[in-house]
Amino acid sequence: MTTQANPTFPSTKPKILVARAIFPEALAKLEESFEVCSNQSDKILTPEELQKALSEVEGALVAGSERIDASALSQATNLKVIANISVGYNNFDVPAMTAAGVMATNTPDILTDTTADFGFALLMATARRITESEHWVRGGKWDQWSIVNNPLGMDLHHSTVGIIGMGRIGQGIAKRGLGFGMKVIYHNRSHLSDADEQACGATYVSKEELLRTADHVVLVLPYTTQNHHTIGAPEIALMKPTATLINIARGGIVDDGALAQALQEGKIFAAGLDVFEGEPQVHPELLKCRNIVLAPHIASATEKTRRAMVDLAIENLFAALADKRPPSLINAEVFST
Ligand code: 8YV
Repeated sequence: MTTQANPTFPSTKPKILVARAIFPEALAKLEESFEVCSNQSDKILTPEELQKALSEVEGALVAGSERIDASALSQATNLKVIANISVGYNNFDVPAMTAAGVMATNTPDILTDTTADFGFALLMATARRITESEHWVRGGKWDQWSIVNNPLGMDLHHSTVGIIGMGRIGQGIAKRGLGFGMKVIYHNRSHLSDADEQACGATYVSKEELLRTADHVVLVLPYTTQNHHTIGAPEIALMKPTATLINIARGGIVDDGALAQALQEGKIFAAGLDVFEGEPQVHPELLKCRNIVLAPHIASATEKTRRAMVDLAIENLFAALADKRPPSLINAEVFST
């Protein structure tokens, strides 16, 4: 079989790693220009396998499942770029990547609306007890319509939504909330510009005020060591007993054990979770809760958006290996040195 060389690269193709299964067309595109070591089995590489694979390549496509730190990079002498197929990059030790001269990239913007749609869907399902109702119907428990003895939920329209983490996705949730006549309050590391606050109809408040006054609390902040257990027992204690809590950010931002206890004791009304501490494991006490909606980290999971994420990661990889600045470069200092 003959392969056509891409004019951008020398006749010996650079080697790259594709650490997770991707769409066949995307893989075929990569194979035109690179010698691809690909893990289409989708079985997550062990740290040892990852370290070895990275030692043999100039570029890699990874996802949140691959922890990229000094140890993973310790033998990667030819590595120039690691492109995350994800906007969140808490799997990257960026200082370690910078120290190793490896460009780090992610996939911002293209998943904002898809993820905000999902956050809103999870909020609606949670407040209106949709999965619980479905279990009820499937379990043959629906014997008659009732004014009071059917699953009664909490309203979204004209309620107050409190968003913690007001980046692109948080703002997307806020704009959807406006369509429902919701009052939008937010807490974030920094205030939005006046124009952005106006576009979202959002008011900045302290974390404590947000927790005390929101009917629905939505978490959309990036995971960092400082954000670990942003919501634990003391924070849940501030929330209204009628409130819902939605986590589409990252596992570890919520203390899942404390949340399970609060749900079981009725300290808050319900929770909707797309991400979990130690996922894909789910805290066993959460699984016992009636008032919870669980999803397997699918906020960005539409075919169109996942394809766009893979394509952007590939664009980042191509640029870096052609000595051009990748469109979503995280550690710019590596490119300029
Ligand atoms: C990814 C996500 O699918 O982009 C993110 O930050 O949470 C998801 O869209 C997931 O992280 C892939 O590892």
